[in-house]
Amino acid sequence: MLNKKMIAALNGQMSNEFYSAYLYLSMSAASTAMGLRGAANWFMVQYQEEMVHFMKLYNYVISQGGAVTLATVKAPPSAFKSLLDMFEQTLKHEQFITRCINDLSDLAVKEKDHATAVLLQWYVTEQVEEEANDNDVLARLRLVGKDGNGLFMVDNELATRVFTPPPAAGNPSA
Ligand code: FEO
Repeated sequence: MLNKKMIAALNGQMSNEFYSAYLYLSMSAASTAMGLRGAANWFMVQYQEEMVHFMKLYNYVISQGGAVTLATVKAPPSAFKSLLDMFEQTLKHEQFITRCINDLSDLAVKEKDHATAVLLQWYVTEQVEEEANDNDVLARLRLVGKDGNGLFMVDNELATRVFTPPPAAGNPSA
C-alpha cells in the first residue's frame, strides 16, 4: 500500500524518467545530424532504458493501487556543441537523477514503506551503472580531444551498444 506522499513522489520520478528518455532521444537525433551513427545508437539504447525505468515505476504504482498522474514533460535541448558536450550533459543529468532516487529512498524509509524501498534499490544500482558508463565514455572523449580519427573510433565503439530488455520489463517484482 502506498501513502499519498509516496504516490506523489513516485509520479514525480516518472516525469523525470520520461524526460530522461526524451533528452536521450534528442541527443540521438543530434548525433545522427553530426554524422555520428554510433553515438546515435548509444543514445537510442539509453532512450529505451529510460522507458524501462519509467514503466517500472508506472507498473509499480498501479500494482499498489495508486493513481498514475502523468505530467507535462518539458522539451529537451535540441542543439549541442559536440559529442563531448552531450556526454557532459548526460552525466550531469544522471547525477541529478541519482539525487532524486536517493531522496525517494529516504522518503520510503521515513514513511516505513519497505516495499517501495526494495523497488528503489534497483534504481540505486542502476544509477551506479549509468554514471560509470557516462564517465567511461567521457574519459575516452577527453582523451581523443579534437582528433577526428579518435572520435571515429569512439563512435564505432558506441555503435556496439545493444539494448537488452530486462527479463520482465515493467514487472515490479523483476
Ligand atoms: Fe533512469 Fe538514466 O536514469
